[in-house]
Amino acid sequence: MKKRYLLIASLLVIFFTTCKHEPIVTIKGNGSNNGPTVVVIPTNDSVCFNTQILPIVVASCAQSGCHTTLNNYANIKLNASTILSYASKTTGKVMPPKPQPRMDTASINLIKRWIKEGTLNRICTANVCDTANVKYTTHIAPIMNIYCKGCHNTTNAGGSVNLDNYTSTKTCTTTGKMICTITASGCAIMPKGGPSLSKCDIRKIQIWAATGCLQ
Ligand code: HEC
Repeated sequence: MKKRYLLIASLLVIFFTTCKHEPIVTIKGNGSNNGPTVVVIPTNDSVCFNTQILPIVVASCAQSGCHTTLNNYANIKLNASTILSYASKTTGKVMPPKPQPRMDTASINLIKRWIKEGTLNRICTANVCDTANVKYTTHIAPIMNIYCKGCHNTTNAGGSVNLDNYTSTKTCTTTGKMICTITASGCAIMPKGGPSLSKCDIRKIQIWAATGCLQ
């Protein structure tokens, strides 16, 4: 009987710690490039609003002069089907408008799934942060693609900064601009108009910068 209570109690602990509403990130390793390889485990498979939907919509729609109010759950939920229909349209009035790059299929599919699951405000927290062997392709490009590329690409380079390829992302980082903007250290605060990057993503970028911006 006691064992059963223990089991229930530990399941409850797991349940409550994985459902925290504030993102909690434990950064493993010694902060250098030689930390242990750990995997970021999403709490479950449903779409996460904070890490998957919000950044895509902010980068594609909430740029200044566009739909700046599409930067929070309530407004994005209210406009979810409109966002999806404009993003998926191929003719007539499309969004984001030309010459902006269109939303990619993976992002459109995520929004579709999110709507199908009931446009929930699911907040996901990664409980482990992988800071081992930080490289552009495996660690940095995925962050740029979600949080920055929509406003920093060849056709639309906010502040003349392009973050859709290795070379210019590296340049932006080695000049110190990248870290300055994502840590709100006196430059324009990025992502513009959206929530700041997670501690884990900031740490990855700092480690990438400190270890020579490997490709
Ligand atoms: C919604 C659009 C938008 C998003 C998303 C965005 N930026 Fe920007 N960014 C801009 C604009 C516009 C500027 C030009 C300066 C300004 O208007 O504040 C800029 C400027 C910058 C600059 C130059 C700052 C300077 O002082 O010269 C850097 C570096 C930068 N962004 C990095 C990033 C990074 C890194 C991300 C992702 C984590 C990001 N931005 C996401 C729109 C955006």
